[in-house]
Amino acid sequence: MPETPAHEEQAGAQDAEDAGIDPAILTQLLPFDPFDPAFHADPYAVYRKIREQGPVTRTPLGLVVVPGHAGISAVLRDNRFGWGDGATVAEHFSQGPDGTTVRPFIFMDPPDHTRIRGLVGQAFSARRVDALRERAGEVVAELVESAVAEADGGTVDLISAVALPLPAILLGELLGVPPEKHARFQALSADIAHGLDPSLFLTPDEVARRDSARAELYEYFGQLADERRAAPTGDLISELVAAEDTEGKLTGHELVVTLTLLLSAGFALTVNLIGNGMLALLQHPEQLAWLRAHPDEVPAAVEEMLRYDPPGQMISRVALADAEVAGEPIAAGEQVMLLIGAASRDPEVYEDPDALVLSRPAGRNLGFGLGVHFCVGAPIARLAAQVAFATLAGLDLELETTSPPRAPYIITRGLKELPVRVAPAR
Ligand code: HEM
Repeated sequence: MPETPAHEEQAGAQDAEDAGIDPAILTQLLPFDPFDPAFHADPYAVYRKIREQGPVTRTPLGLVVVPGHAGISAVLRDNRFGWGDGATVAEHFSQGPDGTTVRPFIFMDPPDHTRIRGLVGQAFSARRVDALRERAGEVVAELVESAVAEADGGTVDLISAVALPLPAILLGELLGVPPEKHARFQALSADIAHGLDPSLFLTPDEVARRDSARAELYEYFGQLADERRAAPTGDLISELVAAEDTEGKLTGHELVVTLTLLLSAGFALTVNLIGNGMLALLQHPEQLAWLRAHPDEVPAAVEEMLRYDPPGQMISRVALADAEVAGEPIAAGEQVMLLIGAASRDPEVYEDPDALVLSRPAGRNLGFGLGVHFCVGAPIARLAAQVAFATLAGLDLELETTSPPRAPYIITRGLKELPVRVAPAR
């Protein structure tokens, strides 16, 4: 089955004018046109051309672009690349509560990064995530049952019915957000998720919604942290509060910014892994049939979905010192864009890279990053996707349209909606 063809349904995709940018500048800055619907329909064709230009290319405005698996892996393992003084970190990311400047740890370099990452890593223990597995199965079963009822033999949107609420509920339960707050939590997560791209690429409305959602979350997490400080419950917030109290390691502001980061970083990408993966499965009926015949292979199938259409398409870094990638010198201060979406289709690493092959041998997937910033939420994201596909694969679904509308972002890649026809239970 071919890639989703270019389509006209990108009407919702914003254009350069909406975002108040001169489109000519963007084509000088980036290695692709972020407002081109054809790019969102099939970025992999564009990435292929960039990869074919060599392991390192520079855009006319000097952005260093690394599209290959080997080059990206080398940069992510190399401590000469990081975030530095933060000049390249969007200001809004560093805006802590009360206008303070507190950078989330995803934008820190060691040793500051190591300190906070260590505390969060402990709280994200395998035990805590594993304990959610049974509950995750129940949540998916309930969501899918409601989705089938909503379709009533007709159509339902799998993004709003399953992909969005599942991570909101699981992340809410993991962090310790009470159930009555989950709907609000989902709305705020979505507003933040829509604002992950640099402000330059967003409409004023998206920027306003992102900033107001972040402010509300800071306030809300601040209150929750106070409650847990007074009466710990054993949830992740209680654990992080304890880490703060015993050694004075996490300040109150750092805690609130870290909790908001966990949500911002985790929510959209998990939604998109489920959405992109489900679209890929429905576009490849023979792969769906294979998955039904091999239910134990769901974890491997999720890794292939992550490779085939990664929810996180790129990672940024800055050269902290003079360095080189694939023999190409990179000067200190140069900004580097690592095209994860391109690396995931690198023919040097993957045989027949444009094919979805759920039984593909496990390889070094870059979808969760690599090195010191490797995704701290990977276990919970994998869990959510695995339980979702274990249940969704059993339904008799058909795509309502071969090209459901894509969200027009560049860092994350996902669907606005995924309408499917649900056959009545036999
Ligand atoms: C399918 C879902 C997900 C994908 C594809 C994904 C992808 C990534 C990637 C590529 C990075 C590396 C960023 C870099 O090197 O600059 C990362 C880091 C991170 N992710 Fe995820 N992520 C997912 C889900 C989650 C979830 C569910 C959470 C939290 C609950 C989360 C929290 C984080 C955090 C906090 C970092 C920063 C880690 C650090 O700087 O040490 N992610 N993620």
